[in-house]
Amino acid sequence: MTADTPNESPDRQDPAQAASAPVAVIGGGSIGIAFAIVFARAGRPVRLQEPDETRRAAVPGLVAGKLADLAAYDLLDEPVDAVAARIAVVGDLAAAVAGVAYVQECAPERLDLKTALFAELDRLAPPGAVLASASSAITASSFAAGLAGRDRVLVVHPGNPPFLIPVAEVVPAPFTRPDVVAAAQAILSQAGLSPVLVHKEVEGFVFNRLQGALLREAYCLVRDGVASVEDIDTIVRDGLGLRWSVIGPFETVDLNTQGGIASHAEKMGPAYARMGAERGQNDPWTPDLVATVAAERRALLPLDRWGERVAWRDRRLMSLVRHRRSENPT
Ligand SMILES: NC(=O)c1ccc[n+]([C@@H]2O[C@H](COP(=O)([O-])OP(=O)(O)OC[C@H]3O[C@@H](n4cnc5c(N)ncnc54)[C@H](O)[C@@H]3O)[C@@H](O)[C@H]2O)c1
Repeated sequence: MTADTPNESPDRQDPAQAASAPVAVIGGGSIGIAFAIVFARAGRPVRLQEPDETRRAAVPGLVAGKLADLAAYDLLDEPVDAVAARIAVVGDLAAAVAGVAYVQECAPERLDLKTALFAELDRLAPPGAVLASASSAITASSFAAGLAGRDRVLVVHPGNPPFLIPVAEVVPAPFTRPDVVAAAQAILSQAGLSPVLVHKEVEGFVFNRLQGALLREAYCLVRDGVASVEDIDTIVRDGLGLRWSVIGPFETVDLNTQGGIASHAEKMGPAYARMGAERGQNDPWTPDLVATVAAERRALLPLDRWGERVAWRDRRLMSLVRHRRSENPT
């Protein structure tokens, strides 16, 4: 890893074409470091900009430590030093973004800070560069609407840490150009991530909305003395979460019920509606909504392949359970 600025120039200004062009990561906190590793691991030169001098000095050691851990778990295809050498840690924003195809902003989650920072990024970054924010909840509309180059701004919200959790939510504002969205998706895919396009800007996007729904209920259950914090974590870790590492919540209920998700909604819908009403939520699974969800599931898995998929799920779980036992023998 170097402490100066390399002078690679992008292949060309069109970010969708610039598969080997450098990227900038802005902010050397936990997410910035992790994104730098993601891009460097995929072969991209990375400029990691961190304004705080003390933190900047700490970044190379932190990156090296994470790369060494990845290597120890066979999750790095190259030697640690080869990957680390692609990451240049810089203090100057202009130097960080010169000639890059893509900027991944990972500064603190504050609207005023992101608004000012994106004004600077729009001024300094090459006109063809995509400007992406790692924002967890703040939308691009709220910090980029006033920018001349707002049509190249969007949110790319990662899981933490993105070098292990591949999903990245791609959340354009209504003013983001479609070719910018496509370029961001291409760059993320090339880096080994799994971009998911979020169709509307809502606070918290999808990842944190789903997490929030579970957390809100978990807090209520603790408050009402139904279960302890430890009990709830056990139920998720050894129950829901174990299953969700193989299939999502829709596929879970689809495979749990003979007849699939439509049958599940018919049997369980009223009980779930009562649980929601108890919490002041009135969003019933209407017949139309259930029909839409069921049609999507049936397109993904025709009912005549349901049994085969249940067997697949069980084998995936067997593999996971075997792995957990080997890591944690009792
Ligand atoms: N931590 C998570 O689990 C997580 C997950 C997904 C997304 N995010 C989002 O990613 C972003 C970064 O989160 P984090 O947890 O790494 O934060 P962090 O506080 O750990 O790191 C932020 C870094 O940005 C630096 N910084 C401060 N002002 C800056 C500026 N003006 N320009 C550039 N850098 C600046 C700080 O010195 C710090 O090193 C936030 O928007 C956050 O919501 C976080």
